[in-house]
Amino acid sequence: MFDFRQLAAAAFGFAALLMAPAAFASAELAKSKNCVACHHPERKMIGPAYKAVAERYGKDDSAIKVLSEKVVKGGGGSWGQSPMPPQPTVSPAEAETLVKWILSNQ
Ligand code: HEC
Repeated sequence: MFDFRQLAAAAFGFAALLMAPAAFASAELAKSKNCVACHHPERKMIGPAYKAVAERYGKDDSAIKVLSEKVVKGGGGSWGQSPMPPQPTVSPAEAETLVKWILSNQ
């Protein structure tokens, strides 16, 4: 018999499977670009927790652009005393991937 709920569950599982590697890849990117030296998902370290960043900006598209630029060029004044240094090894596309991932950390 055709059961819609089973189909929905299967579709949901499939979507989760598709999305998991993307989140995993972003976490690996954050590690390889050394973001993790100053940022923790839930705790403030030298920089703000990713969760706090996600809560402040939500999924606002204009925030993605502003934050991606800030990740590459560095900057301060939003969270406290220490500014974030520029990240010359991070390309604009990588910065955008990381920011989207951070903002999905709510
Ligand atoms: C040397 C420490 C350091 C490293 C490495 C670092 N950050 Fe930061 N980051 C900070 C600090 C400090 C702030 C707070 C800046 C402020 O108050 O405006 C910050 C802020 C941020 C913000 C929020 C900016 C805002 O305007 O609200 C994002 C997003 C961010 N970092 C992402 C990243 C990503 C992605 C990486 C890796 C490519 C990274 N950071 C690497 C220290 C760091």
